[in-house]
Amino acid sequence: MTDDPQTWHYGLIAEYWAEFNDDFRAFEIPYFQRYVERGQPALDVACGTGRLLIPYLRAGLDVDGCDVSEDMVARCREKAGRDGLSPTLWAEPMHELHPPRSYKTIYVCGAFGLGSTREQDAEALRRFREWLEPGGTLVLDIEVPYADTNQWKYWQKDERAELPKPPRQPRERKRAADGSEYALSSRYLELDPLEQRVTLEMRAQRWREGTLEAEETRVLTIGLYFLNELLLMLEQAGFADVEVQGDHNDKPATSDDEFIVFVAKK
Ligand SMILES: C[S@@+](CC[C@H](N)C(=O)[O-])C[C@H]1O[C@@H](n2cnc3c(N)ncnc32)[C@H](O)[C@@H]1O
Repeated sequence: MTDDPQTWHYGLIAEYWAEFNDDFRAFEIPYFQRYVERGQPALDVACGTGRLLIPYLRAGLDVDGCDVSEDMVARCREKAGRDGLSPTLWAEPMHELHPPRSYKTIYVCGAFGLGSTREQDAEALRRFREWLEPGGTLVLDIEVPYADTNQWKYWQKDERAELPKPPRQPRERKRAADGSEYALSSRYLELDPLEQRVTLEMRAQRWREGTLEAEETRVLTIGLYFLNELLLMLEQAGFADVEVQGDHNDKPATSDDEFIVFVAKK
């Protein structure tokens, strides 16, 4: 694995996120917003195209954003600009986090473990703590490794023999505001249960007036974490007081939650 984060959020995939993903898992937006309201300024780590950040700015909250992908950051800046907003945004992997100020809240939604090594993830947690003000809060979610039943089966040797899966045709095309159409199709390439890492490939296509005008294939790795190892990592990073909530619902996490949220105090 390279030391450069391996994430697919560039080019056509960044365009797709900016165009179609504002309403994706919409319940996450008010959930994280409550933490930001209680502790500003806040930092949105891996802000993507601003699915959370832009509504918070519209609500008058003081939030900066960063993301490893300069393409996602550029789309986020463009979308914010359309609302007359000019947030502080920059491109940087989370394990190299070096923001211009410290924060009362740092949140990471849908991004921890993407494209990085375990050492980088541990370093990211240390940096989150470093850049929190005393008493500040880290709010970080993960999808638990057993959430996706289709993926979970590849932890078994026999099932892994199917990998890599063959490329698939996209299920649907989506029409963007300018009339162009986009389609994404992903496939599993590898799941390494020893390293707890899954590797996926995404093919993104864009058509204009019925003609395929752009096509890209990109790879994403995801580090898979279980509850107790992330608790240990948070402890090693210096977080003493950690609460674990269910799927963005303010309740204690249960075995049935597909996402869990770590709320850690500095
Ligand atoms: C699933 S998207 C989520 C974006 C945003 N947090 C949201 O919820 O809409 C994951 C984002 O994480 C970013 N990302 C992936 N690996 C990263 C890393 N190692 N450091 C910082 N950002 C990363 C990607 O570029 C992408 O924008």
